Amino acid sequence: MAMALSAGFPAVSNPPKAPLAYSRPGTVKSQKEAIGSHGERARGVGCGVVAGAVLLTRRSKLQMRAAPAVKERAELQSQRRADQEAFARGYESASSEECFTLHSEDLPKGLRGTYYRNGPAKLKVGKDQIKHPFDGDGMVAAVTFDGQGNVHFRNRFVRTPGFVEELEAQKMLYRGQFSPKSGGWLANAFDMRVKNLANTNVMHWAGRLFALWEGGKPMELDPLSVATLGQGSFAGALKSEDNFTAHPRFDARTGRQVGFQYQPDIPNSVTNVSFWEFEPSGFSTARRVNAQIPDFGFYHDFLVTENYYILSKAPVSISPQGALEGMLGFRSMGESIRFDASKPTQLALVPRDGSEPRFIDLDTHFCFHFGNGYEEDGKLIIDMAFAASLELGDASSGDRPVLDRLAS
Ligand SMILES: [Fe+2]
Repeated sequence: MAMALSAGFPAVSNPPKAPLAYSRPGTVKSQKEAIGSHGERARGVGCGVVAGAVLLTRRSKLQMRAAPAVKERAELQSQRRADQEAFARGYESASSEECFTLHSEDLPKGLRGTYYRNGPAKLKVGKDQIKHPFDGDGMVAAVTFDGQGNVHFRNRFVRTPGFVEELEAQKMLYRGQFSPKSGGWLANAFDMRVKNLANTNVMHWAGRLFALWEGGKPMELDPLSVATLGQGSFAGALKSEDNFTAHPRFDARTGRQVGFQYQPDIPNSVTNVSFWEFEPSGFSTARRVNAQIPDFGFYHDFLVTENYYILSKAPVSISPQGALEGMLGFRSMGESIRFDASKPTQLALVPRDGSEPRFIDLDTHFCFHFGNGYEEDGKLIIDMAFAASLELGDASSGDRPVLDRLAS
């Protein structure tokens, strides 16, 4: 595969000295494809914005180490400035797609394969600034190592139907899940249409590549060119009403790809969840389990163990007033989510055999992402990113969140 990729693109006439410079496409022979007249030159891919925005809050308190020496303090300040600049670049919109090859004798021989990454990278449409990074359109980057010292880079926006529509219109046509479109509340009122952002993750399975976003269906991409092929249904496994998580899991014990969806039923105060298990060879469905979990739910990630699918059930809700304000366009629906610190967080254990879910009370927290999870000697072992509460930020002002660092 790598040979085919390298053959299709020009070699670098003057290869850079190692180590490879990743974010300097202008220093090497590049092949660019303009995607619109708006915006400025791409400055990287904007990858990792989602995770960064989760961890870094608007007004988190900075606790510096006690009385650092002058030199150490200067280094800390310099590092902090560099971090702030890097963080701010996550809010810049990429306006072009890149395709180039670099060469370095220092790359390990035999290192072959492709690393895919997805993230929101289109944060400006015409003159309209998208105010929350979660609402940016996805761009997938692929970095291929050929085992001969060559590394080939290309990135492309995921051409969802909404992306194409807005590119042609040169303005935001859809409300974000976490930020409004331009034009004030009147432009947003009663507009509950959803644009598939395809901006959160990529899944390579059975030789096929998909850009994932939990509010919609997977978008299939060409694994070599990362060009968009169209909306996928996993060979019909996903029905018209189904979405698919951005964080599928691989079950090493069975070799299956496991994913889920969740859809809150606010009037009935339940959340409907479905889990799929795909056979190792492709998308034939080995199992689909449907379950109902009480209350409104916000489930971004999950775990699969030998006997359970595991979700973190946080004490979140949308108040009637929040829902009304959301419908009237005064705030996004995401901004209407409230966290009740007086209630416990629960682990929801949904048995893989389809029997009734069980719940375990934990200290109050919010878990956006799990690490690993498994069963051992009758115990459940879980790694997770533990946050004291849910912080999504108020995107209505359009201010950028502030980067702070917590240090113990
Ligand atoms: Fe995530």
